[in-house]
Order: sequence, then C-alpha cells, then structure tokens
Amino acid sequence: MSVLQREAPAAAGRWRPRPSVRKSILLVHVAASVALLGEVWGLVVLNLTATLTGDLGLAGAAYRLMGTLVFAGGIPLSLTALASGVALGLGSHWGLARHTWVFAKLLLLLGVILCGMLLFTPEAMAGAMRASTRGGARPEGRQWGQVAVVSTQLAMLLTATGLSVFRPRGRLRWTRRRS
Ligand code: HEM
Repeated sequence: MSVLQREAPAAAGRWRPRPSVRKSILLVHVAASVALLGEVWGLVVLNLTATLTGDLGLAGAAYRLMGTLVFAGGIPLSLTALASGVALGLGSHWGLARHTWVFAKLLLLLGVILCGMLLFTPEAMAGAMRASTRGGARPEGRQWGQVAVVSTQLAMLLTATGLSVFRPRGRLRWTRRRS
C-alpha cells in the first residue's frame, strides 16, 4: 500500500501536509535514519579497532575520529530523524502515541540519543589512551564498556528499522479506548 493510499481524511483542526510535502519529509526521514544507522555501525567498527589493537596511537586516533563522527553525523542525523519522524506521525493518521510501532520507534530513538549523551565518551577515552602511552594502565574495561554502548545503540536502530518495514499491528491501549 502506498504512502498516499494510507492517508486518512484530514480531521478538522489537525495538520495534514500535502502529499508532496509529506513525501519530502519521508525522504528526509528515511535518509537521516538510515544514515544514522550507518554512522553507528562505523562507531562499532572504530570502537572494536581501538579495543583490539595493540597500537595505542591508533586507538587514540580512533577515539578522536569517533568524536568528530558524533558531532558531524550522529547529533545532526539523530535530531533530523527525530524531528521528521515526529512530523510524519503528527501529520498523518499514524499519530505519535497511537500505533505501537511508531511509539516504540520514538522510545528507541530517544534511548539512542540518551545513550550517546550519557554513556558514550570518546574524548575521555582519547585522553585515557594518551595517558596509557605515557605509561598509565590501559583502561580495557572502559574500552569494552564503550563497545557495549555503541552495540546497544546499533541494536536499537536495527529494531527501529525492522519496525518501520514490518509495521506490526497493534495500538496502544489508551488510544483503543478513545476510538
Ligand atoms: C530510530 C530510527 C528510525 C528509523 C531507522 C526509521 C526508519 C523509517 C523508515 C525506513 C520509514 C519508511 C517506511 C516505509 O515507508 O515503508 C519510516 C517511516 C515512518 N517513521 Fe521512522 N524511523 C526512525 C524513527 C522514527 C521516529 C522517532 C518516529 C516518530 C516519532 C518515526 C515515525 C515514522 C512514521 C510515522 C513513518 C511513516 C510515514 C508514512 O508512511 O507516512 N520514525 N521510518
């Protein structure tokens, strides 16, 4: 079923973008979300490289590159995916908290953003690697912790992509009562 066929008649007072506008937002949404998935995959690869290599210089460079990737890719892409996803939900019959798959994606993306903000610390890891090159102990536990954080983000984004494609039926209980 096409995007246009799924569209419900506009309810009074609700924002319903024209089909061309909606398709443009969908294009931005899919591009940003899938690019974010690719960026996080890159972070997993870089983290594994930094953790498994015996070359402390290479590990430090990998952590510095991760910081750049997050600022140039992760932050703008996740905010674009969030804003366009919210617009698509609010501007269609899908809603934001009506269908389980949309609400689950919202929670998953917020989870990805929070993990990145609170648990992912590439700059601190680059500093720790610099200290190790000067004779400090190598923070292997923290390095594996960072691998776990980005792997969890990757799993959440893969789940969100699966939900977008399969769109399992199911509505949230409070919206079932209202309709
Ligand atoms: C977490 C990362 C996300 C990924 C990887 C993702 C991926 C996708 C993809 C691939 C589609 C197109 C599906 C299709 O047309 O067959 C889509 C559509 C959609 N997404 Fe997301 N999305 C994400 C986050 C979000 C969020 C946070 C929201 C809402 C707050 C959202 C709401 C929607 C809605 C409502 C559509 C349907 C648009 C339509 O057909 O009218 N998405 N998403």
